[in-house]
Amino acid sequence: MTDIKNITVHYEEAPIYDICIESDFTLLYKELEKIGTKNKKICIVCDSNTKELYLNEVIDIVKDYAMEVESFTFPAGEESKNLDVVKQLYTQLIESRFDRSDLLIALGGGVVGDLTGYTAATYLRGISFMQIPTTLLAMVDSSIGGKTGVDFDSYKNMVGAFHQPKSVYINTSCLKSLDKRIFVSGIGEVVKYGLINDLEFYQWLKEHKDNILSYKPEALKQMIYRCCKDKQYVVENDPTEKGMRALLNLGHTIGHAVEKLKDFSLYHGECVSIGIVAAAYLSMCRGTITKDELKEIKEVLTSFTLPISVTDLEVEKVLAATKNDKKMQAGKIKFILLSKVGQCVIDDTVSDEEMKQAIQYIIKK
Ligand code: GLY
Repeated sequence: MTDIKNITVHYEEAPIYDICIESDFTLLYKELEKIGTKNKKICIVCDSNTKELYLNEVIDIVKDYAMEVESFTFPAGEESKNLDVVKQLYTQLIESRFDRSDLLIALGGGVVGDLTGYTAATYLRGISFMQIPTTLLAMVDSSIGGKTGVDFDSYKNMVGAFHQPKSVYINTSCLKSLDKRIFVSGIGEVVKYGLINDLEFYQWLKEHKDNILSYKPEALKQMIYRCCKDKQYVVENDPTEKGMRALLNLGHTIGHAVEKLKDFSLYHGECVSIGIVAAAYLSMCRGTITKDELKEIKEVLTSFTLPISVTDLEVEKVLAATKNDKKMQAGKIKFILLSKVGQCVIDDTVSDEEMKQAIQYIIKK
């Protein structure tokens, strides 16, 4: 068992922010003290779910460490992750006279974090923001590394900016208050870390499945800590995705296409799970993993109740949707393949024929 400490994320060798992994909000004040918020206005951004669940508790803490506190709420769901909602938030910040020294706090899952971060990146050419992720996906992935953005029409994360948070405060007990399917969806991203470059963690996940699915606090903390450490390593080495950060997109090329064609009725992590199976199948076709290893990857995902296939989709349409993905470079898709279980590579030689076979594999008849 690893001793869990705050993780300090560096950018060009300088410490930029801490990731704190706690089981409640008691130490949130310490992060506010570190940021130095006493003379700042703070706007807490949440969605309709996190407003009900945590806003009052967080305001109670934040109000003693800020000059003024207000909140902004939008309807929960991917449909809200757009420039119209950003505009509403800009309007509130302008009317409340937020200046460049003030702070936004994102209290919610990936949609809240990405939208708040993007608003912070662009309002007055950039103000500070803090992440309080409340879903597993946001805790282990989207709150770390400074990727912010919104969807544009049906293009996911098409408009965005890199903007680092001042702090990431994780309260693992939030996971229990959220819908179980949303929790499990995040495990798609968790398994991804094991497959990319942490075989030991992949084995650990298999052994601790029951404790994770029953929300055992120590298992959750260990799991989240390990993912945050893995993500820290990647984003410190490649903050703006010039190279290895693209490995984090394992399962995302086909996953994003499925997510879009299913009109966001499947959660992101569920689509990543399906996309991982497609990538693993392609890897097996190329001989880098065995048939048994592919079978085992599917079993691990299924054991966490994650989907490994999808119905009612056409191969050609999924292929076409992958071409609109941001991960294209000079007309080629940067596909992430397994060079073995626990190690991935970026590959731009995957042909349409191979893609079609992999897509066919994940479509259930
Ligand atoms: N979610 C992938 C990344 O942060 O690069």
